[in-house]
Amino acid sequence: MKPTKHFVYFSSKASTSGKALSQGNLMKAGRIDIAIHSLIQGVFLSHDFREDVKFHFIFNGMPDPPKHIEIQIVEDTPISKRDVAKIIQKLLYKYKPGTKNEVFPGCFIEKKSFFHVLEELEEEGCELFTLDKKGELLREVEIEKTPVFILGDQEGLPKKELKKLKQMATPISVGPKMYFASQVVAVVNNELDYREI
Ligand SMILES: C[S@@+](CC[C@H](N)C(=O)[O-])C[C@H]1O[C@@H](n2cnc3c(N)ncnc32)[C@H](O)[C@@H]1O
Repeated sequence: MKPTKHFVYFSSKASTSGKALSQGNLMKAGRIDIAIHSLIQGVFLSHDFREDVKFHFIFNGMPDPPKHIEIQIVEDTPISKRDVAKIIQKLLYKYKPGTKNEVFPGCFIEKKSFFHVLEELEEEGCELFTLDKKGELLREVEIEKTPVFILGDQEGLPKKELKKLKQMATPISVGPKMYFASQVVAVVNNELDYREI
């Protein structure tokens, strides 16, 4: 299998409460629906999975931010496109202070900030890219190490985070329009497929 690539999806408002998701309104829970669409584009294929993609969510919404959720599909991950919301809800319910809890095979939750997660990936030797409409064209960017693609939710990455990201990540653009987060993930995966990364 090819080396694992990473997507890191940051949302300032995505709820950190399992209960908020149980009310069945993913939009009201800080647009968890957008997070789910992005994950689907990140790790699902038609009748298959992208087992070489690790998808990270950083949820910074109330009541207990930050939460780092990590999902990589492995043999026994009990996931289908229909029940991603339930998986995320269960992960939020099963958060245990002080540990990185593997709630389902390949699915973890812990309390860890956005930059802490990125710093750890850097220490592992990964190369960071911020998905940004004004960045260098993805098609022209050389990817030399294991890539990490960082993206925002419906509100985009906050200014404070973007400022710090400038020092550690290369901004790259997938095209001249402002796309949905999920569309951006699909385009990046497609480019990696062509390059066989
Ligand atoms: C729906 S967009 C955010 C829109 C938000 N109103 C803004 O102005 O940033 C969600 C995320 O997709 C990514 N994105 C959208 N269009 C892009 C593009 N053309 N190139 C690279 N990334 C893009 C960015 O990371 C953005 O934070």
